[in-house]
Amino acid sequence: MGITAEEVFIGNGVSELIDLSLRALLNPGDEVLIPSPDYPLWSAAVALNGGVVRHYPCPPEKSFAPDIAALEAMVTPRTRALVIINPNNPTGAVYDRELLEQMVALAEQPTW
Ligand SMILES: Cc1ncc(COP(=O)(O)O)c(C=O)c1O
Repeated sequence: MGITAEEVFIGNGVSELIDLSLRALLNPGDEVLIPSPDYPLWSAAVALNGGVVRHYPCPPEKSFAPDIAALEAMVTPRTRALVIINPNNPTGAVYDRELLEQMVALAEQPTW
C-alpha cells in the first residue's frame, strides 16, 4: 500500500495511540474536528491535551455522514486535526469513497 515501517505506530489499543498522537500534535487552544455523535474518548483526549473540541454534525437524516461544505466552514487557523472514524462508532455509518476523498483533500489543504 506504499506505507513504510516508519509510518506505522503500534500500541496497546487505539486509546493509547490517540493520546500519544494528540500529545505530539496539539498546543493549548488548538482545535480538533470530531464527528458528532462522538465516541467520548476522542473529546476527552483532546481536552486532556489542551485542545478544543469542535464537533462536526453527522445527522441521522444524512445517514450519519458529514456535509463537506459545513465541515470546511469549521476549519480555522487553529485547526490541527480532522478525526475520521470509518466505520463510525457509535453510529455504524460507513462513508462512501467520494466523501472520504473530499475529507482527505480538505485535510491536505495548505491553509491548516
Ligand atoms: C471510535 C473509537 N475510538 C477509539 C476506541 C478505543 O479503542 P481501544 O479499545 O483499542 O483503546 C474505540 C473502541 O471501540 C472506538 O470505537
